[in-house]
Amino acid sequence: MKIDILTLFPEMFESPFNYSMVKRAIDGGQVEIQPINFRQYGVGKHQMVDDTPYGGGAGMLLKPEPIFEAIDEIDKQTSASKKRIILMDPAGKPFNQAMAEDFSKEEHLVFICGHYEGYDERIRTLVTDEVSLGDYVLTGGELAAMVMIDATVRLLPGVVGNEASVVEDSHSTGLLEHPHYTRPAVYKGMEVPAVLTSGHHGNIKEWRHKESLRRTLQRRPDLIDEMELTTKEQEWLDE
Ligand code: ADE
Repeated sequence: MKIDILTLFPEMFESPFNYSMVKRAIDGGQVEIQPINFRQYGVGKHQMVDDTPYGGGAGMLLKPEPIFEAIDEIDKQTSASKKRIILMDPAGKPFNQAMAEDFSKEEHLVFICGHYEGYDERIRTLVTDEVSLGDYVLTGGELAAMVMIDATVRLLPGVVGNEASVVEDSHSTGLLEHPHYTRPAVYKGMEVPAVLTSGHHGNIKEWRHKESLRRTLQRRPDLIDEMELTTKEQEWLDE
């Protein structure tokens, strides 16, 4: 996978991808991540990238020309591959695990990070996705892009050591993960649930599913609302 990031602050991306699984994915050739400073496509002698809004109002807007030119340049270098062009925008669709899974199947992603009050509307004609990290406003799209890239890259085949652990992650099943325990069996008087040490795989599987459901109902009832529960699942939740 190729990931290009259009940003005015490429240095911000030097460190976060230098660790752990994303570093492994870069070193292993599963992903190539390239920050591109779109200031180089800025307008005029001063390489302007932003301007005041027509009709008045506070703040500055990103001008269309630098972003269009940056995308043109990317197109020239990678004309064959289909790509997703993803605009970082607090007014976009909230990012979630399903989107990370969708992105992880693509060959080429381009993230556009703004740093001003907003975008000239014409920039949106270039993009395939407008995505928000959550219902809050960051100083720029860079941190949002980092989070989305991290969540996407770990889903690439072979990046996380244990593939099963990705399948069982919170959210990948639509539910939050069940509780986990490791040794010792008793710590400061707190005991590991007996079912987990019983060796009975059927019971363990059922207990985990039940606990996932309970935890999700308690912490994220909105996720349960979106699901179709079996009669048995409904009974567990009513217990
Ligand atoms: N830029 C500023 N705030 C943002 C957010 N919440 N998500 C994505 N991009 C942003």
